[in-house]
Amino acid sequence: MCGIVGAIAERNVVPILMEGLRRLEYRGYDSAGIAVRADDGHIQRIRSVGKVGELQHRLDTQPLVGRLGIAHTRWATHGIPAERNAHPHMSGERVAVVHNGIIENHADLRAELSAQGFSFTSETDTEVIAHLLAYHLGEGEDLLSAVRSSTSRMVGAYALAVACPDEAERLIVARLGSPLVIGIGVEENFIASDVFALLPVTQRFIFLEEGDIAEIRRGSVRVLDAQGNEVERPVRISQLTASTADKGPYRHYMLKEIFEQPAVIAETLEGRIYKGRLLEESFGHEAKRLLDAAKGVHIIACGTSYHAGLVARYWLEEVGVPCSVEVASEFRYRQVVVPKDTLFVTISQSGETADTLAALRESKKMGYLGSLCVCNVPESSLVRESDVAVMTRAGPEIGVASTKAFTTQLVALRLLALALARRHGMDREKEKTLVEELESLPRQVEVALSLSEAIEEMANAFAEKTHALFLGRGTFYPVAMEGALKLKEISYIHAEAYPAGELKHGPLALVDADMPVICALPNDPLLEKVLSNLQEVRARGGELFLFSDERIRINLDHYHSLTLADICPSTAPIVYTIPLQLLAYHTAVLKGTDVDQPRNLAKSVTVE
Ligand code: G6P
Repeated sequence: MCGIVGAIAERNVVPILMEGLRRLEYRGYDSAGIAVRADDGHIQRIRSVGKVGELQHRLDTQPLVGRLGIAHTRWATHGIPAERNAHPHMSGERVAVVHNGIIENHADLRAELSAQGFSFTSETDTEVIAHLLAYHLGEGEDLLSAVRSSTSRMVGAYALAVACPDEAERLIVARLGSPLVIGIGVEENFIASDVFALLPVTQRFIFLEEGDIAEIRRGSVRVLDAQGNEVERPVRISQLTASTADKGPYRHYMLKEIFEQPAVIAETLEGRIYKGRLLEESFGHEAKRLLDAAKGVHIIACGTSYHAGLVARYWLEEVGVPCSVEVASEFRYRQVVVPKDTLFVTISQSGETADTLAALRESKKMGYLGSLCVCNVPESSLVRESDVAVMTRAGPEIGVASTKAFTTQLVALRLLALALARRHGMDREKEKTLVEELESLPRQVEVALSLSEAIEEMANAFAEKTHALFLGRGTFYPVAMEGALKLKEISYIHAEAYPAGELKHGPLALVDADMPVICALPNDPLLEKVLSNLQEVRARGGELFLFSDERIRINLDHYHSLTLADICPSTAPIVYTIPLQLLAYHTAVLKGTDVDQPRNLAKSVTVE
């Protein structure tokens, strides 16, 4: 997936496009490009490999000026990161396009267009769009009609912005399956993959729906729906401001976001619990109907959000609700048996992950009771298309490795588990205890954060290692999976998570003095079992790094450990996640990797 931005104004749009790209870099950062229409009617384009900063260097020596333009930051799907594959793509001098998504029938279209004499200069799927547009323009169609004709030939997902040298007064955009917003200014208008890219210039947005095509002029926006009918789409005011996501005093966004967790967890609980009670009305009216009827839950998500779902499964089954959890990319192509009255739950930070969104859409044909999403972005497609949305209030998460989004998802899922527990006989006393545990969570997370310096010290033992093993049992198994994912994505150390009881069935063969083994040791009924598993590691010379409850006694010959205090059982998976985030962070800093934008990854994956 990629980020796109476009603008039409009375002023030079280049600084607006470049700031937009910087803000969209989380969506991909292996190459970037910009094309603006100069007042003499020429399209001028500059592209470069690497991050947006590289493109800025090129612009510093070769400035561009124009009042209409489009730009792109890329995460390679078709074709390696190279200047020729960077967007905008052009068909000669005729038209320029930026695209986020994947055109699945690009090979057929490429063959057809090549046969007609169009020559290709890249390996991308996007270049076929540029030539398709040029073909239709060549047939005498105007730009809007050429976009309609071209999109009708395309199979796949796209958010497009198109600029044409002959058109000083309008940009055309289209979306299907990939996100696109229109930012409304005063005598100037903008488009982008998300709201955040445009916050420096506006807080007023139109969200396009599937199949929409829009004509963006300086003073007006005209939207046509999938059938070509002119439609009104509401203008919404975003509550976010341009400064919401500054790094502040922190060296990296990731560290800032880790330290924001006490505040955003409190924010996520705000108005949802009060005096030992869950305020279920805060989920909305539709939620009551679904929760009353739900006999089981299917959870679908990707990446870190999937790990949140795995933790929630333990919580839901504990209160008697059957639950299965699956990654969205598997779910959508599987023959799923849906038991009667099953609630479909998606979890997503961005609300735009292509696989999760496709799974939600698929679920609507499969006989589920209804859909509920746990999501961090109110304007996202997932929120708009779900029956009920339980919002996490983590604020913008910029670091590619998810931290505060994960812990706030777990908080939202705890609330959901409480709501369902009420329907399965939870008494007032139990509810009070569990709500109080949630209330004390921000303080417990603060205590865990105070280990940061000690963990920085501990990280020295990891920086030179090439492998690491994370162990856990019960809810701490998915917590271990999340710890391993954090370490591998930002420090590039190969890390695996195993249920501690499975160690003897294979991974034990890997354990030696070069294999650090990391384990959370909460004070729970599985403690003795986990300790026995850790004995097995010690017997093979494995080095143990433990995060444990100060109340427990660890009967092992040698280990490194840091202790946590006052941990409550129901929220312990959330608290124990914190040291694992810090361990990954400090290890990556020691290794000198790009913590906020690790190689090959992107924050929001809006392609399949
Ligand atoms: C990408 C991100 C992960 C995230 C996953 C799912 O892989 O790098 O951090 O967990 O997508 O994203 P979502 O927005 O649906 O939670």
